[in-house]
Amino acid sequence: MDLSGALRAIADCSVLTDADAVAGYVADWTGRWRGGPAIVARPRTVEAVSAVVRACAAAGVPVVPQGGNTGLVAGAVPPAGAVVLSLRGLDAIGEVSDGAVVAGAGVTLANLESFAAARGLTCGLSLASGESATVGGAAATNAGGAEVLRYGTARARIAGLRAVLPDGAVLDRRRPPPKDNTGYDLVGQLVGSEGTLAVITDVTWRLDPAPRARTVLALAFPSPDAAVAAVPVLRGLPGLLALEWSDGAAVARVAGHLDAPAPLPTDGCWVFAELDGPLDAAGAVDDLLPDDRIAVAEGEDRLRLWRFRARTTEAVAAAGVPVKLDVGVPVESLAPARAAIVDAVAGASPDVEPVLFGHLAEGNLHVNLLARAGGRIPEQLADRLEGVVLERVLAFGGTVSAEHGIGRAKRAWLGRQRGPEQVALMRRIKDAWDPAGLLNPGAVLDPEVGRRPSS
Ligand code: MLT
Ligand code: ZN
Repeated sequence: MDLSGALRAIADCSVLTDADAVAGYVADWTGRWRGGPAIVARPRTVEAVSAVVRACAAAGVPVVPQGGNTGLVAGAVPPAGAVVLSLRGLDAIGEVSDGAVVAGAGVTLANLESFAAARGLTCGLSLASGESATVGGAAATNAGGAEVLRYGTARARIAGLRAVLPDGAVLDRRRPPPKDNTGYDLVGQLVGSEGTLAVITDVTWRLDPAPRARTVLALAFPSPDAAVAAVPVLRGLPGLLALEWSDGAAVARVAGHLDAPAPLPTDGCWVFAELDGPLDAAGAVDDLLPDDRIAVAEGEDRLRLWRFRARTTEAVAAAGVPVKLDVGVPVESLAPARAAIVDAVAGASPDVEPVLFGHLAEGNLHVNLLARAGGRIPEQLADRLEGVVLERVLAFGGTVSAEHGIGRAKRAWLGRQRGPEQVALMRRIKDAWDPAGLLNPGAVLDPEVGRRPSS
């Protein structure tokens, strides 16, 4: 029996092979990264996941685990001939116990948050893509989002997990004892491993008490430097949940996309602060800016203000196929690093517009590059732009990926960031978990670099 026949014989699993049906699984949603052709397997149980992995191992065919396919670094874009293992069908949510709930890998973050909110709790992971992004994908990529400042990245939210190993065996650490100091942290190793070590099927997600009342402040600083200079004051705001930033031009782009006027001037740089608390807690910002550069919203209204940050990705995608560089530098270097990045882009091409926004509290800047003429930036120019931007970031002691991971897009930069010894150690870890190299090959690590000679 060929592989698609073997997959079709697995109970609780549907299989797609038709080009139209697999199209949404083999390309990323920005349209920049395209893989395949591939077979898509959609199991609905852990047993079926295990059977898919075993069938692929027997056939020597690579497996690319995939959640909501909302990633931005081509980590779930399959090489030709691979099987995409979509985990979206594992969408059950269990009961809360010990402050955490076991959720199937395919539960969306929006559904997890609704589940939590109905119990006066929050999952603490706020992504603009939360309607599609899944718990398993968030775990596999150590996703961040707006509220890292308060709740940490996915790593901090995960109390346990279950995963299928590359030989089909099941590793069950869904409910480790709250205090358990036995041996290596296998759960921690899988978080952020981008589907290269095992297939995460369930995640035990910590839930925290929900914020009492959310208040959103938008502050329209006259320049990015002024916004960065205000960080120490803003970080002291009582009940701070999120501290984000967007160039005024990025806000104006969102306003145009939504056909909704921006409530503040877009000449400089906006900062968005979200507070766990009532309006009067915002008094602390009165000295930073005049009243006509501050907007405050609470209750239902806050989403109307927050959308000028939250819907930036969507507004950018509506204008063309962006080159997305997600970088971070120490907050104290943000202002000069941002200026150096803007200069570098302008020097590389006058035809490219940088759209800058991100997570101010963590020094995280999303550098989105758009062709001014619309459409797509030619790949050769995209490579050059990536090079000049990431070199600047490294020169400022920053990171070439603060939030989105390495995937396939940033693989060439891993060694520059982490050094050859750490990459070699990562390779040995990969080989230990996945000796046949069939799990998401080419993501994070270049399959050819650092591989041990076969004996
Ligand atoms: C965001 O912060 O909005 C996300 O990381 C998405 C993006 O960078 O486009
Ligand atoms: Zn982000």
